[in-house]
Formats: sequence, structure tokens, C-alpha cells
Amino acid sequence: MKIPLCKPSINKKEIKLVQKSLKSSWLTHGPYNIKFEELFNKKFNIKYSIAMNSCTSALECAVKSLGVKGEIIIPSFTWVSTANAVLNCGSKPVFVDIDYKTRNINLENIKKSVTNKTIAIIVVHFAGLPCEMDKISQFCKKKNIKIIEDSAETLGAKIYGKSTGSFGIGCFSFFPTKNITTTEGGMLTTENKKVYDYVKKLIAHGIDKNIKKKFWHRVAVLPGHNFRMPNHLAAIGYSQLKRIEKFNRARNKIASLYNSELSKPFYKINIPYIPEGFTHSYQMYTITVEAKIRDKLLYFLKKNNIEASAHFDPPLHSQKYLKKYYKKKLPVTEKLSKEIITLPIFPDMTKKEVLYVIKTINRFIKSN
Ligand SMILES: Cc1ncc(COP(=O)(O)O)c(C=O)c1O
Repeated sequence: MKIPLCKPSINKKEIKLVQKSLKSSWLTHGPYNIKFEELFNKKFNIKYSIAMNSCTSALECAVKSLGVKGEIIIPSFTWVSTANAVLNCGSKPVFVDIDYKTRNINLENIKKSVTNKTIAIIVVHFAGLPCEMDKISQFCKKKNIKIIEDSAETLGAKIYGKSTGSFGIGCFSFFPTKNITTTEGGMLTTENKKVYDYVKKLIAHGIDKNIKKKFWHRVAVLPGHNFRMPNHLAAIGYSQLKRIEKFNRARNKIASLYNSELSKPFYKINIPYIPEGFTHSYQMYTITVEAKIRDKLLYFLKKNNIEASAHFDPPLHSQKYLKKYYKKKLPVTEKLSKEIITLPIFPDMTKKEVLYVIKTINRFIKSN
């Protein structure tokens, strides 16, 4: 048996939609962008959504929309895009440590890193578990610190019934490993009309469609990008989004099976923790094991045709070009990066496949 880390679920309807879209000769931003964005707003109770070509682009637009440069607090336990968006907009990343149990940035650590230069925080909802946004939002409002949510891994997760991506500027990813896919793709969400208007221009060459003296005029008002999502990819996203509840239910069911088997005491494994009132979208299923056996277990799984991985090892502060921003010690990040293991999870994963992963881990533990 060969088990991939993840596998997107593309159905016949989505393939047909792409065909239809390509045949319509409408190959760039088009009617499906609007449908996809409207459905996103409706499902997650969001005012404005903008489909674009990646979450990385959404993060960069979100940071640019702040309109000022300064210090931006981020975790080190994340994908490089989080830090790159900050640097590419001329601001400075300030790494903070995370909580061991949730593997997320928390208010306690944020408070230790706030200075009078802090302009924003990018929270990262790790693996599909939301950060404690209730506490973080309250604090940021008082301090006038803006919130950007790197929600790449958390489509559909909630905190006390409120969706991630609705606490600040949300940035979602539709890369093939994520909760839904458009192949490459992302979405920026905001409650703020000014941010919406600015980002709409920013992703489309800085053109203001409302300024037109003559019908052929294209008036550029800022140095924009081409970060748009093409119509046929938005068509896939629209159809995938209709299935998000089903996908996340399947992910949660697989996680429950892993949890019930891997939490047995002899395993010495920490399964994911979910605080009361939070839901998990399980974009990734991660466990921790003792650092001394972690690498050996990863090689063992690979040898047995199981594609496991370790998110995020190495953490950002140990990447060469980011080392100079590493100021405060990050003991929990360091520890987790040596203990974490990402196991296969995807909506179409069968019970037999999950049990094979568990059985293989069992064989490893017994012989070590
Ligand atoms: C936390 C986080 N941020 C950003 C990204 C980047 O997403 P994209 O590939 O859509 O640019 C990812 C995806 O790997 C991610 O996991």
C-alpha cells in the first residue's frame, strides 16, 4: 500500500466546469470569480472576499493595505510566505513563540513582543486549529494593532461559531494540499470597504475601473500587480467550496480514528489538542513524538510507503536569510520543530489506509 500525504478530491463536475469555462473563451477574471467570492462571503459570514492567484499574494496585499511600515509580529512555526510578505512590503518580522499544546501563537507571547513600532500581527492558524482570536482581537483593538490572519490551513474552522478570516484581514490558500483547491489560488477576506477597494486595484495592475473619461481608457492609480485568479480556476473553487462541509467532516472523522488509536499510553504520542468552543479543519493531522525518535520514525514511514512529513521543520528563524530577525528565544518552536510529524490526511482517505498508517507506527514503537 502507498499512501500520499494528501490528495485533492476533484470530481467530474469540476472537470466539466473547467471545460465549459475554457470553451467559453473567457479565460481570465470572469463570472465564476464573482460566484466564488459571493459564496465565500455567505458561507463564512464575511463582508468582502477577493479571489486571487495564491495565499502568498493575499498576504502581501494584506500587509500593503496597512499603508505603513513597522514591526509585524509573526510566529516562526509557519510557511515562509508569512515572513516573506512582511519583508517584501518593507516591514520587519518579529518572531514570537507559540503554545506547546495548540502549536499556535497566543496572547501571552504576543504581549512580550509588542513595542511602540508594532503595526500588526499575522496570526497563523496552524494545521487547521484557530488561534485564540477572542483574546487576541480584544488586545489588538485596545492597542490599535491590526490583525492579519494567515488562514491558509484553516478553511471552515470556527471559534465560538465565528469563522477564521473574519477577525482581521483573512488570507486563504487553495494549493492542492489545502481544505479546498483551485490548483494554485487564494482568497483575501475583509470587513473593511477601503481595504477591499484598495486590494481590488492592487491585484489588477492598479487600474481604477471607476475612472474612465473615454471607453478605452485604463487609468492606473497605483503600482499594481497581476495577482488575479482566472475564471476556470474560480469555477473549480466555486464547486469545491460547495463541498467544504463534507470535506471537513471527512477530515475530522479520519482525525478521530487517528486520535483514538494513537492516544494509547504506550505510544508516548501527543495528539492534536482542541480548546473548548473551537473547531478544527484538519488541513494537516500532526502528532508529536520524542525528539530522539522523530527522524527515525519519519524514515520508517517512508520505507513503508507512507508519505509523512514535518511541518514546520526547519522553523523560519533558522532559515539563513531570516536569522537576523531572530532576537527573543523561541524554546517551544525549537522543541516542536524537532518533535512534530505530519501524517497523511485527505477527504478520500479510506479507513484501511488510516489503519495501515496506525499499524506501521505501532510496529515502529514496538521495535524502538
Ligand atoms: C501557513 C501558510 N501560509 C501561506 C501559505 C502559502 O499558500 P500559497 O501556496 O497559496 O501561496 C501556506 C501554504 O503552504 C501555508 O501553509
